[in-house]
Amino acid sequence: MARAALIDHYRKLLPLTHRTPVVSLMEGFTPLIRAPRIGEIVGAQVYLKYEGLNPTGSFKDRGMTMAVSKALEAGAQAVICASTGNTSASAAAYAARAGIRCVVLIPEGKVALGKLAQVAIAGADLVAIDGNFDEALNLVRDLSDRFPLALANSVNPFRIDGQMTGAFEVVDELGDAPDYHALPVGNAGNITAYWRGYQAYKAAGYSRRLPVMLGFQAAGAAPIVLGRVVDQPETVATAIRIGNPASWATAVAARDESGGSIDAVTDDEILEAYQLLVRSEGVFCEPASAASVAGVIKRSKQHPFRKRDVIVCVLTGHGLKDPQTAVDCTKEVARCPAALDALAGLLGLR
Ligand code: F0G
Repeated sequence: MARAALIDHYRKLLPLTHRTPVVSLMEGFTPLIRAPRIGEIVGAQVYLKYEGLNPTGSFKDRGMTMAVSKALEAGAQAVICASTGNTSASAAAYAARAGIRCVVLIPEGKVALGKLAQVAIAGADLVAIDGNFDEALNLVRDLSDRFPLALANSVNPFRIDGQMTGAFEVVDELGDAPDYHALPVGNAGNITAYWRGYQAYKAAGYSRRLPVMLGFQAAGAAPIVLGRVVDQPETVATAIRIGNPASWATAVAARDESGGSIDAVTDDEILEAYQLLVRSEGVFCEPASAASVAGVIKRSKQHPFRKRDVIVCVLTGHGLKDPQTAVDCTKEVARCPAALDALAGLLGLR
């Protein structure tokens, strides 16, 4: 039998009514992949929650199935969002599926190619603004106040509700919450959602414990770490190039209530983890996603983990989202005449 849509599966813990028209692309149920080589490096049991395998290639689909379903239930004809790319790729797909309009504001020149392609081909109204994500989000909030446009950013509580399902899946698979849950932090919706998800699942009796939450921002876009707004955020991890996170307060609450931390990792550390993930584990994620692993490696040098500790790192988006960064990190393609001897020589085969 075909499986249920994600939010139908977890319906008991979500604000669905019998009238909610569930808009689904069969998101969620992503694999939790054991990462033995990274585990060796950090001295613990590491698992990768590979969210790149969602329908539009990022974790945003968990929240978007919920937000678009609830928007449709409320009679919305259009959704709007600001985005560093993934939210808009997801909104464009779910709006198309629902048969409603999608308006997208992005920061000009700072969205990875794969994400742009997804939004454009899905027929969304795509506008690049001469400003950063934080400015785009302010504009979108104003527009949704004034016009009949449902806001699809994670300031919409239904987005957070849907994203709690990531935590439910981790517990379902491990049998309990992990010791540590690591993830990148941008607008801070996901750390808010995972923490709420773990709490809700425990309250419902599905787990006995809660994880320590470890959030990681890019050093050039680390407002929560610095404790102040960053006016001109900059990082190679464009997905988390955010200087004034909308869910700042709830991210700090997740950190403090769980006894965790929110720390910064440099672009070099991010790119190193990004390459390590695909070269040593075969798992290709986008740069922002690798901030979780970069952060866990950094932390392991400062505060060693115990060997038995279970650490889940969320890989939030697929590597194909940002082909340019992958190509930039790679040596040039070797060239060779189409001849056996020349090829054997080039490859060092004897
Ligand atoms: N990783 C990726 C790949 C993302 O796209 C985002 C956010 C994050 C991590 C951070 O999650 O914002 O909940 O703290 N992307 C948003 C977007 C901002 O517009 O696609 P967060």
